[in-house]
Amino acid sequence: MLIKAPAPRDVRPSEITPETVYRSRRRFMAQALAGGAGIAAGSALALPSSWLEGRELAPAAAIGEETTPERLATEYNNFYEFGTDKDDPVSHAHEMSIDPWTVEVSGEVARPGKVGIEDLLAGIDLEERIYRLRCVEAWSMVIPWIGFPMKKLIERFEPTANAKYVEFQTLYRPDEMRGQRGFFTSIDFPYVEGLRLDEAYHPLAIFAVGMYGKLLPNQNGAPLRIVVPWKYGFKSIKSIVSIRLTEREPRTTWNVSAPHEYGFYANVNPMVDHPRWSQATERRLPSSLFSPNRIDTRMFNGYDEVASLYSGMDLRLLY
Ligand code: MTE
Repeated sequence: MLIKAPAPRDVRPSEITPETVYRSRRRFMAQALAGGAGIAAGSALALPSSWLEGRELAPAAAIGEETTPERLATEYNNFYEFGTDKDDPVSHAHEMSIDPWTVEVSGEVARPGKVGIEDLLAGIDLEERIYRLRCVEAWSMVIPWIGFPMKKLIERFEPTANAKYVEFQTLYRPDEMRGQRGFFTSIDFPYVEGLRLDEAYHPLAIFAVGMYGKLLPNQNGAPLRIVVPWKYGFKSIKSIVSIRLTEREPRTTWNVSAPHEYGFYANVNPMVDHPRWSQATERRLPSSLFSPNRIDTRMFNGYDEVASLYSGMDLRLLY
């Protein structure tokens, strides 16, 4: 398993999930998988609800922190395509059809193509990964994803020697995505994001197709998103329809919208504040006025093993 458990100093005894709880959670997951995820089956180009059934799932390494309740992680979302309020995505994301779903892989690859999601994922082994998700807005969650290393999929398309970056794009379909119809959204659509290829190839960077033992709900980015746990959440782009390998650094939505506030790298960094708020601490959800649950933010969101990707770089300038 590729996930490093946090160093002992990071773990309070009360945070450690007891083995029994963890085991019973895994039993529950097996049942959830057997029961399907409630997404309509249809064209061969969509992921049918039975897609996860009976699949072997490499178990996650426990990270010693409590998992966010599923309801919160699926009802408190950022997905501007459906509106800017936290409950807009759960209210409106069902208006997006994910059947059929194709992904175009293009740019600096020897084997470009447009592939139905089921064919795209054929033969790929799934793993559970329990990751901290740190939003740039200074809240965080701990989410059990189902996915696989990004490298496994990207390599299938044989990137050329010129490929230095990978750009991702979200579905653009204003008829079904009400946030894309508004005049007053703060960002341009389609939502685009990108990574350096060596970042995408880091074992912690995954494509996710599920969470909490089920296929992804639409509001969390069905049927395919990325999760890059050492970066602010806005890098983890949802509902991907295009993967393009490029020689130059791609444009990214939040950087285009407010370059002084959001950089291309967006590594979680408690020492570099957002111009309008501190990034030194975060609210671990669930939190409330009386129980704010404020914790220190860690460099790279606690995933120290990525540090070598940035050696020699000034992360104050390349925020
Ligand atoms: N992807 C798209 N296409 N549109 C978005 O608005 N929001 C980002 C990211 N991916 C966003 C997106 C932000 S700001 C965060 S914090 C995470 O999704 C939230 O993921 P979650 O809703 O699954 O917790």
